[in-house]
Amino acid sequence: MSTAKKEYKRVTVKSLVEMKSNGEKVSMLTAYDYTMAKIVDGAGIDVILVGDSASNVMAGHETTLPITLDEMIYHASSVIRAVNRALVVVDLPFGTYQSDPKEALRSAVRIMKESGGHAVKLEGGKEVKDSIKRILNAGIPVMGHLGLTPQSIYKFGTYTVRAKEEQEAIQLLEDAKMLEKIGCFGIVLEKIPAALAKRVAESVSIPIIGIGAGNGVDGQVLVLHDMIGMTHEFNPRFLRRYMNLYEDMTKAISQYVTDVKQVDFPSDAEQY
Ligand code: KIV
Repeated sequence: MSTAKKEYKRVTVKSLVEMKSNGEKVSMLTAYDYTMAKIVDGAGIDVILVGDSASNVMAGHETTLPITLDEMIYHASSVIRAVNRALVVVDLPFGTYQSDPKEALRSAVRIMKESGGHAVKLEGGKEVKDSIKRILNAGIPVMGHLGLTPQSIYKFGTYTVRAKEEQEAIQLLEDAKMLEKIGCFGIVLEKIPAALAKRVAESVSIPIIGIGAGNGVDGQVLVLHDMIGMTHEFNPRFLRRYMNLYEDMTKAISQYVTDVKQVDFPSDAEQY
């Protein structure tokens, strides 16, 4: 497989499809605020996802369900102000696109107009097909999300691997082909068997971005706070931690507490 990298000054939905046809993997991470997005973009990530995982990571909710459209717009507009190169994809939160296509379009338009995001992502297959078509018809790029779809956690009951059974695997493959056919520019596949994810990636020409979906797909996404080890209680098999910021920050902050208590900080050189 080719590892040659074409330079992209700005990543667009077209660049991602091109990366797939050139055999270049797509890198994607979440970000929810200006400071983090500036670092992530500056480090050369292809896609920043303003995920509804902000509900867990930023607000401390148990699920992604409570986050609102206004809150997603707030996070997305902070990210957009930081980004020069990456494509910024914004999640449509739970309850803003499932009821009917008109509402889905209204929600997507609000994200595009009020945050400046470049594309939206939403969860589901054939059950949200009409909503996706409506959004696409307005010229808004859409990324799909299949497999483990956290907005349906109360239907699934657990966060375990999806599509292990043949019937669900067949449906997932059909949904992926349908999403490609109606015009989605990419699909996130979350927590499904690697062999199935590879089969999906080989069956469509749009990029398949995996999280817990093995290495046979066209790119990878992780939640930033998990990947840099700021969170420490969430330890799924698919997560590789590149730092242990939880420990490092705890050490630094407790050192600061000690320094303040002992009047070691500020020193003579740190005052006017
Ligand atoms: O909200 C999110 O962070 C996501 C990723 C897990 C893909 O949808």
